[in-house]
Amino acid sequence: MTFETRPWLVLPLLLLIANCMQHYSVHGESKVPCLFIFGDSLSDNGNNNNLVTTTKSNYKPYGIDFPTGPTGRFTNGPTAIDIITLLLEFKDFIPPYANISGSDILKGVNYASGAAGIRVESGKHMGDDISLGLQITHHLDVVSKIAIKLGGLRKAKEYLNKCLYYVNIGSNDYINNYFLPQFYPTSYLYSPQKYAEVLINQLSLYLQNLHDVGARKFVTVGVGLIGCTPNAISTRGTNGSCVEEENADAFIFNDNLKSLVDLFNIKFSADSKFIFINSTAGTIDPSFGFTVFDVACCPTADNGLCIRDQMPCENRNEYVFWDEFHPTTVVNLLTAIASYNASNPAFTYPMDIEHLVQS
Ligand SMILES: *[C@@H]1O[C@H](CO)[C@@H](O)[C@H](O)[C@H]1NC(C)=O
Ligand SMILES: *[C@@H]1O[C@H](CO)[C@@H](O)[C@H](O)[C@H]1NC(C)=O
Ligand SMILES: *[C@@H]1O[C@H](CO)[C@@H](O)[C@H](O)[C@H]1NC(C)=O
Ligand SMILES: *[C@@H]1O[C@H](CO)[C@@H](O)[C@H](O)[C@H]1NC(C)=O
Repeated sequence: MTFETRPWLVLPLLLLIANCMQHYSVHGESKVPCLFIFGDSLSDNGNNNNLVTTTKSNYKPYGIDFPTGPTGRFTNGPTAIDIITLLLEFKDFIPPYANISGSDILKGVNYASGAAGIRVESGKHMGDDISLGLQITHHLDVVSKIAIKLGGLRKAKEYLNKCLYYVNIGSNDYINNYFLPQFYPTSYLYSPQKYAEVLINQLSLYLQNLHDVGARKFVTVGVGLIGCTPNAISTRGTNGSCVEEENADAFIFNDNLKSLVDLFNIKFSADSKFIFINSTAGTIDPSFGFTVFDVACCPTADNGLCIRDQMPCENRNEYVFWDEFHPTTVVNLLTAIASYNASNPAFTYPMDIEHLVQS
């Protein structure tokens, strides 16, 4: 791994990874016994590798800063949820559902899939993906396997009560659906306000499905500044600036998601807790040493992903974006730290992950 700059920032990451990958610490347990991950390319760690789709990242230069090289993660090193996994003191990353053979599913599974959305059709113009509904179906399969291991569904649910459930999805319902009227009719059918409501209604049903099979601690992550990706700026931005209408749609989605978290914290107050992470509240600050905000670090193809085997930028820690859509690992590190232990209270609501797992 080559992290030349910002050693004070990157050192904790190196230590965490070393600790995790080399099993330094044999004592000590993770802060929760299990972690289940639902989402899109921000969290995918290999579930798209064998799908028929152009949304793949199991080739170089993806993974250039990951201990085992390219894995199907859409960034140069660990993702934000990988780093949160380490902050929770898991000794290994959570395995992808596509390859759970040989893994301890009692510790959790990662169902996330690049290009996936809350809506089934989101991203499908690029090929297959595992939409959130299918991710929940996969979880039901894992729950039944856990029930066999633990001696019944009731015991399985009791165990699953203690796990953390991380749900980070919605960007593709905009980027790979609502913003592409040539492929998808949603922008003709719904106003931005109505579309956000439709998405959140569907998400609320999925969260209740998870609750039905034992989920009690939920992290829901809002949509980031989707109008500020290098792809949005270069294809739809004027004069190299962010597409503010697209950011406005993300804000509407996030307002609705935050209201859902409030609603569910009342509706399920007897047994559950939900938190909302505001990905637009910003951990990106030039004082962290970023110098390039709107250009990808790797040379990119028409689909915005890195071109296979092309040399990426050297000063990766100065770039906010790895490819035209996905943040670099240094940004993921800042996001993970801010989500886990909120020095910025606007970032996590009504509490951070550290407090959620303690409660
Ligand atoms: C699947 O997981 C096993 C054990 O966790 C690992 O050794 C193997 O390399 C993985 N296979 C693929 C194709 O990633
Ligand atoms: C874009 O930049 C040009 C030249 O600087 C300026 O004349 C124009 O008003 C700008 N357009 C917008 C939408 O900001
Ligand atoms: C998220 O953070 C942004 C920036 O601080 C803020 O404008 C917005 O209102 C927040 N959204 C929610 C739902 O809290
Ligand atoms: C969380 O942040 C607070 C203050 O920012 C700090 O005192 C505390 O040690 C942090 N906890 C962890 C586990 O990093």
